Amino acid sequence: MQSIQTLNFLKKIDSYISGEEISQSLNLSRAAIWKHMQELRQLGYEIIAFPHLGYKLVSVPDKLLPHEIQYGLGTKLLGKRIDYEETVSSTMDVAFKLAMEGASEGTVVCAETQTKGRGRLGRQWASAKGKGIYMSLILRPKFAPVEVAKLTLLCGVALTETIKKTAGLQVSIKWPNDLFVNGKKLAGILTELNAETDRVKFVIVGIGININTALAGLPSVGTSLKNETGHDHDRVKIFQEVLRGIEKWYLRLGEEGFLPVIKKCKELSLILNQRIRISDPAGSIEGEAIDIDQDGGLLIRQDSGVITKKMAGDVVRL
Ligand code: BTN
Repeated sequence: MQSIQTLNFLKKIDSYISGEEISQSLNLSRAAIWKHMQELRQLGYEIIAFPHLGYKLVSVPDKLLPHEIQYGLGTKLLGKRIDYEETVSSTMDVAFKLAMEGASEGTVVCAETQTKGRGRLGRQWASAKGKGIYMSLILRPKFAPVEVAKLTLLCGVALTETIKKTAGLQVSIKWPNDLFVNGKKLAGILTELNAETDRVKFVIVGIGININTALAGLPSVGTSLKNETGHDHDRVKIFQEVLRGIEKWYLRLGEEGFLPVIKKCKELSLILNQRIRISDPAGSIEGEAIDIDQDGGLLIRQDSGVITKKMAGDVVRL
């Protein structure tokens, strides 16, 4: 869309600027500039125009528009392509289809709401319209399927840093995929993969973060950034930080492997050294969560002294 060029120009100007100056700077006709202003207003941008003064951008819409996310993003890989729709069934399904069609690594799908947002273990993910971040990221890592569990931990680490940086809130990781604050769930990660026996074809990392969501729109264990801090947050800024944060940790893998991720994950863990119950299709066990090992697995010491390693499961603190 050509009007994005005009928008980005307006963003750099603090005061009014005449249509004539814009048209000269961008080498576009006055009619084109006028048309861009109409298009931008249609998208929800507030642009005021005064005779003799010119145009001024007053506000941007509260939407996860790809060009807003990409403005000043500065990533090498993540978010070079962003597919956006107001409403989808699940961003996971859209991303999966794109990945099957060959979409490149780093492609992101996001939406304002999902009609069938899903979490792990067949749970639903409440996706209040325009209030949260609901995104899926296509990755094509060159490692074996067994490594993918650690990718979830990597994203968890990146998200905790993002929330700390953008909202000043210290969040903990409830292994393997939940982010908790003050005993409530703020965000979740869902990792799905397409693989051969020993080779990952692609991974879809789904991220849901409750940003400006009212508690009434969340399950009883849920919370939002707004609820925790008492004010609204800029979803685009947080989205950008999520992409920068995941990219930073993902690119580090090439040189340092997963060890720094595991170390950080242990520091941020909500459940280490706590008594827990973990359930999976094999049943439930109780004990103390004593470590997250180099594979990203959770080690649980049962009362009998037996130590069991789990690579996935549903954890509750006792
Ligand atoms: C969980 O906590 O179990 C994981 C929740 C993941 C939710 C996100 S929202 C964006 C993406 N689309 C989905 O349907 N789910 C993930």
